[in-house]
Amino acid sequence: MRPYVIIFSTETIDGRIASRTGYSKLSCFEDLKLLHSFRAHSDGVMVGANTVILDNPSLTVRFSHGSSSFRIVVDPSLRVPPNSKIFDTPGRGVLVTLETWSLENLRDYIIRGVIVVKAGLDRLDLRKALVELHKLGVKRLLVEGGGILNCTLLAEGLVDEVHITIAPYIFGSGVSLASCKAFDGETSRVELALISYKEVCPGWVHLAYKVLRPKTIKA
Ligand SMILES: NC(=O)c1ccc[n+]([C@@H]2O[C@H](COP(=O)([O-])OP(=O)(O)OC[C@H]3O[C@@H](n4cnc5c(N)ncnc54)[C@H](OP(=O)(O)O)[C@@H]3O)[C@@H](O)[C@H]2O)c1
Repeated sequence: MRPYVIIFSTETIDGRIASRTGYSKLSCFEDLKLLHSFRAHSDGVMVGANTVILDNPSLTVRFSHGSSSFRIVVDPSLRVPPNSKIFDTPGRGVLVTLETWSLENLRDYIIRGVIVVKAGLDRLDLRKALVELHKLGVKRLLVEGGGILNCTLLAEGLVDEVHITIAPYIFGSGVSLASCKAFDGETSRVELALISYKEVCPGWVHLAYKVLRPKTIKA
Protein backbone atom coordinates (compact mmCIF):
# COMPACT_ATOMS: atom_id res chain seq x y z
CA MET A 1 0.00 0.00 0.00
CA ARG A 2 1.20 3.50 -0.76
CA PRO A 3 -0.15 6.90 0.38
CA TYR A 4 -2.64 8.93 -1.65
CA VAL A 5 -0.29 11.48 -3.26
CA ILE A 6 -1.16 15.10 -4.02
CA ILE A 7 1.21 17.59 -5.66
CA PHE A 8 0.62 21.24 -4.72
CA SER A 9 2.71 23.94 -6.39
CA THR A 10 2.34 27.61 -7.17
CA GLU A 11 3.71 28.52 -10.60
CA THR A 12 3.87 31.36 -13.09
CA ILE A 13 1.70 31.24 -16.21
CA ASP A 14 4.76 29.90 -18.10
CA GLY A 15 4.99 26.97 -15.68
CA ARG A 16 7.92 28.10 -13.50
CA ILE A 17 7.98 27.32 -9.78
CA ALA A 18 11.19 29.36 -9.34
CA SER A 19 13.07 31.89 -11.47
CA ARG A 20 16.55 31.19 -12.85
CA THR A 21 17.96 33.09 -9.82
CA GLY A 22 15.96 30.91 -7.40
CA TYR A 23 13.18 33.40 -6.58
CA SER A 24 10.11 31.35 -5.63
CA LYS A 25 7.79 33.52 -3.52
CA LEU A 26 4.79 33.18 -5.82
CA SER A 27 1.84 32.83 -3.42
CA CYS A 28 -0.66 35.47 -2.32
CA PHE A 29 -1.78 35.14 1.31
CA GLU A 30 -4.99 33.23 0.40
CA ASP A 31 -2.90 30.73 -1.60
CA LEU A 32 -0.57 30.28 1.39
CA LYS A 33 -3.58 29.62 3.61
CA LEU A 34 -4.83 27.03 1.10
CA LEU A 35 -1.41 25.34 1.03
CA HIS A 36 -1.30 25.24 4.83
CA SER A 37 -4.79 23.72 5.00
CA PHE A 38 -3.55 20.98 2.62
CA ARG A 39 -0.61 20.45 5.00
CA ALA A 40 -2.98 20.22 7.96
CA HIS A 41 -5.04 17.56 6.16
CA SER A 42 -2.01 15.45 5.20
CA ASP A 43 -0.01 12.94 7.23
CA GLY A 44 3.25 13.97 5.56
CA VAL A 45 4.68 16.82 3.47
CA MET A 46 7.49 15.91 1.04
CA VAL A 47 10.05 17.98 -0.90
CA GLY A 48 13.22 17.28 -2.90
CA ALA A 49 16.75 17.90 -1.65
CA ASN A 50 17.29 21.06 -3.75
CA THR A 51 14.22 22.73 -2.24
CA VAL A 52 15.54 22.20 1.29
CA ILE A 53 19.05 23.32 0.38
CA LEU A 54 17.88 26.46 -1.46
CA ASP A 55 14.84 27.52 0.59
CA ASN A 56 15.25 25.79 3.98
CA PRO A 57 11.44 25.55 4.45
CA SER A 58 9.93 24.46 7.79
CA LEU A 59 6.87 22.83 6.10
CA THR A 60 4.84 23.39 9.31
CA VAL A 61 1.17 24.45 9.53
CA ARG A 62 1.02 28.16 10.41
CA PHE A 63 -1.74 29.81 8.37
CA SER A 64 -4.46 27.23 9.00
CA HIS A 65 -5.90 25.21 11.89
CA GLY A 66 -4.44 21.78 12.44
CA SER A 67 -1.14 20.26 13.45
CA SER A 68 2.02 19.65 11.45
CA SER A 69 2.65 16.21 10.04
CA PHE A 70 5.81 14.32 9.05
CA ARG A 71 8.19 16.62 7.14
CA ILE A 72 9.97 14.52 4.53
CA VAL A 73 12.92 15.15 2.20
CA VAL A 74 14.09 12.94 -0.68
CA ASP A 75 17.89 13.09 -0.48
CA PRO A 76 19.77 10.09 -1.94
CA SER A 77 23.20 11.77 -1.65
CA LEU A 78 22.90 13.18 1.92
CA ARG A 79 23.29 16.75 0.64
CA VAL A 80 20.67 18.21 3.02
CA PRO A 81 22.26 19.67 6.20
CA PRO A 82 21.16 17.89 9.41
CA ASN A 83 20.34 21.30 10.94
CA SER A 84 17.71 22.07 8.25
CA LYS A 85 14.42 23.46 9.61
CA ILE A 86 12.40 20.42 8.45
CA PHE A 87 14.30 18.35 11.03
CA ASP A 88 13.57 20.79 13.91
CA THR A 89 11.06 18.52 15.71
CA PRO A 90 12.51 15.15 16.78
CA GLY A 91 10.45 12.22 15.48
CA ARG A 92 8.71 14.35 12.79
CA GLY A 93 11.52 14.94 10.26
CA VAL A 94 12.03 12.12 7.73
CA LEU A 95 15.04 11.56 5.47
CA VAL A 96 14.37 9.32 2.45
CA THR A 97 17.68 8.03 1.17
CA LEU A 98 19.64 5.05 -0.21
CA GLU A 99 20.04 1.75 1.64
CA THR A 100 23.81 1.93 1.21
CA TRP A 101 24.43 4.66 3.80
CA SER A 102 25.93 3.37 7.08
CA LEU A 103 24.92 4.31 10.62
CA GLU A 104 28.08 6.43 10.76
CA ASN A 105 27.05 8.34 7.60
CA LEU A 106 23.61 8.97 9.12
CA ARG A 107 24.79 9.76 12.65
CA ASP A 108 24.20 13.55 12.56
CA TYR A 109 20.62 13.06 11.36
CA ILE A 110 19.80 10.34 13.88
CA ILE A 111 21.16 12.46 16.76
CA ARG A 112 18.60 15.13 15.78
CA GLY A 113 15.75 12.60 15.96
CA VAL A 114 15.37 12.29 12.18
CA ILE A 115 13.56 9.15 10.99
CA VAL A 116 15.53 7.52 8.16
CA VAL A 117 13.62 5.69 5.42
CA LYS A 118 15.93 3.65 3.18
CA ALA A 119 14.79 2.69 -0.32
CA GLY A 120 16.99 1.56 -3.19
CA LEU A 121 20.63 0.52 -3.52
CA ASP A 122 22.22 2.42 -6.42
CA ARG A 123 19.21 4.62 -7.21
CA LEU A 124 16.38 5.78 -5.04
CA ASP A 125 13.30 3.57 -5.25
CA LEU A 126 10.43 6.04 -4.81
CA ARG A 127 7.74 3.35 -4.92
CA LYS A 128 9.41 1.45 -2.08
CA ALA A 129 9.90 4.72 -0.15
CA LEU A 130 6.16 5.45 -0.38
CA VAL A 131 5.31 1.94 0.89
CA GLU A 132 7.65 2.51 3.87
CA LEU A 133 6.08 5.92 4.55
CA HIS A 134 2.62 4.32 4.48
CA LYS A 135 3.82 1.85 7.16
CA LEU A 136 4.88 4.90 9.26
CA GLY A 137 1.29 6.19 9.11
CA VAL A 138 1.45 8.45 6.04
CA LYS A 139 -1.85 7.63 4.32
CA ARG A 140 -2.15 11.02 2.58
CA LEU A 141 1.04 12.65 1.29
CA LEU A 142 1.39 16.25 0.12
CA VAL A 143 4.29 16.84 -2.31
CA GLU A 144 5.45 20.46 -2.56
CA GLY A 145 8.13 20.13 -5.25
CA GLY A 146 10.54 20.95 -6.60
CA GLY A 147 10.36 20.16 -10.28
CA ILE A 148 12.61 17.09 -10.27
CA LEU A 149 10.69 15.37 -7.46
CA ASN A 150 7.32 16.26 -9.03
CA CYS A 151 8.37 14.86 -12.40
CA THR A 152 9.90 11.61 -11.17
CA LEU A 153 6.81 10.86 -9.07
CA LEU A 154 4.55 11.58 -12.07
CA ALA A 155 6.73 9.46 -14.37
CA GLU A 156 6.48 6.49 -12.02
CA GLY A 157 2.68 6.80 -11.82
CA LEU A 158 2.77 7.64 -8.11
CA VAL A 159 0.63 10.82 -8.14
CA ASP A 160 -3.15 10.90 -7.68
CA GLU A 161 -3.92 14.64 -7.86
CA VAL A 162 -2.12 17.79 -9.03
CA HIS A 163 -3.12 21.14 -7.48
CA ILE A 164 -1.66 24.21 -9.11
CA THR A 165 -2.06 27.86 -8.26
CA ILE A 166 -1.17 30.03 -11.24
CA ALA A 167 0.36 33.37 -10.22
CA PRO A 168 -0.03 36.22 -12.76
CA TYR A 169 3.70 36.32 -13.53
CA ILE A 170 5.96 35.28 -16.43
CA PHE A 171 9.60 34.37 -15.64
CA GLY A 172 10.73 33.16 -19.08
CA SER A 173 13.22 30.70 -17.57
CA GLY A 174 13.84 28.90 -14.28
CA VAL A 175 12.60 25.69 -12.64
CA SER A 176 9.58 24.02 -14.25
CA LEU A 177 6.69 22.47 -12.34
CA ALA A 178 7.86 19.08 -13.64
CA SER A 179 11.54 18.79 -14.69
CA CYS A 180 12.65 15.50 -16.20
CA LYS A 181 12.94 13.84 -19.61
CA ALA A 182 10.43 11.04 -18.95
CA PHE A 183 7.91 12.18 -21.54
CA ASP A 184 8.15 13.21 -25.20
CA GLY A 185 4.64 14.68 -25.31
CA GLU A 186 3.63 12.88 -28.50
CA THR A 187 3.85 9.23 -27.48
CA SER A 188 4.11 9.67 -23.70
CA ARG A 189 2.70 12.31 -21.39
CA VAL A 190 0.72 12.70 -18.18
CA GLU A 191 -2.94 13.33 -18.84
CA LEU A 192 -5.15 15.04 -16.28
CA ALA A 193 -8.85 15.60 -15.68
CA LEU A 194 -9.93 18.96 -14.29
CA ILE A 195 -11.77 18.66 -10.95
CA SER A 196 -12.25 22.34 -10.05
CA TYR A 197 -10.90 25.88 -10.43
CA LYS A 198 -11.18 29.00 -8.32
CA GLU A 199 -9.69 32.50 -8.11
CA VAL A 200 -8.09 32.44 -4.64
CA CYS A 201 -7.19 36.15 -4.59
CA PRO A 202 -7.38 38.74 -7.40
CA GLY A 203 -5.28 37.29 -10.27
CA TRP A 204 -4.26 33.97 -8.63
CA VAL A 205 -6.18 30.93 -9.95
CA HIS A 206 -6.14 27.53 -8.27
CA LEU A 207 -6.74 24.45 -10.45
CA ALA A 208 -7.29 20.92 -9.15
CA TYR A 209 -6.70 17.91 -11.42
CA LYS A 210 -6.99 14.15 -11.10
CA VAL A 211 -4.12 12.23 -12.70
CA LEU A 212 -5.20 9.80 -15.42
CA ARG A 213 -1.91 7.85 -15.15
CA PRO A 214 1.12 8.49 -17.37
CA LYS A 215 0.16 7.49 -20.88
CA THR A 216 2.17 5.69 -23.53
CA ILE A 217 0.46 6.16 -26.89
CA LYS A 218 0.91 3.39 -29.47
CA ALA A 219 1.59 4.60 -33.02
N1 LIG B 1 6.73 27.60 -6.24
C1 LIG B 1 6.63 26.47 -5.57
O1 LIG B 1 5.52 26.04 -5.23
C2 LIG B 1 7.88 25.71 -5.22
C3 LIG B 1 7.76 24.61 -4.37
C4 LIG B 1 8.92 23.86 -4.08
C5 LIG B 1 10.14 24.22 -4.64
N2 LIG B 1 10.22 25.32 -5.44
C6 LIG B 1 11.52 25.67 -6.06
O2 LIG B 1 12.02 24.58 -6.79
C7 LIG B 1 13.45 24.65 -6.83
C8 LIG B 1 14.04 23.29 -6.57
O3 LIG B 1 13.52 22.37 -7.50
P1 LIG B 1 14.44 21.31 -8.26
O4 LIG B 1 13.63 20.74 -9.35
O5 LIG B 1 15.74 21.95 -8.60
O6 LIG B 1 14.79 20.23 -7.14
P2 LIG B 1 13.98 19.32 -6.09
O7 LIG B 1 12.96 18.50 -6.77
O8 LIG B 1 13.60 20.13 -4.91
O9 LIG B 1 15.18 18.38 -5.58
C9 LIG B 1 15.84 17.58 -6.53
C10 LIG B 1 16.85 16.70 -5.85
O10 LIG B 1 16.20 15.88 -4.87
C11 LIG B 1 16.62 14.53 -5.04
N3 LIG B 1 15.50 13.81 -5.65
C12 LIG B 1 14.27 14.28 -5.92
N4 LIG B 1 13.51 13.31 -6.47
C13 LIG B 1 14.28 12.23 -6.55
C14 LIG B 1 14.08 10.92 -7.05
N5 LIG B 1 12.93 10.52 -7.54
N6 LIG B 1 15.11 10.05 -7.03
C15 LIG B 1 16.27 10.45 -6.54
N7 LIG B 1 16.54 11.68 -6.05
C16 LIG B 1 15.55 12.55 -6.06
C17 LIG B 1 17.83 14.58 -5.97
O11 LIG B 1 18.98 14.82 -5.19
P3 LIG B 1 20.48 14.42 -5.74
O12 LIG B 1 20.77 15.41 -6.82
O13 LIG B 1 21.36 14.58 -4.56
O14 LIG B 1 20.39 13.03 -6.27
C18 LIG B 1 17.48 15.77 -6.86
O15 LIG B 1 18.54 16.39 -7.48
C19 LIG B 1 13.84 25.68 -5.80
O16 LIG B 1 14.28 26.84 -6.46
C20 LIG B 1 12.58 25.96 -5.02
O17 LIG B 1 12.50 27.30 -4.59
C21 LIG B 1 9.12 26.06 -5.74
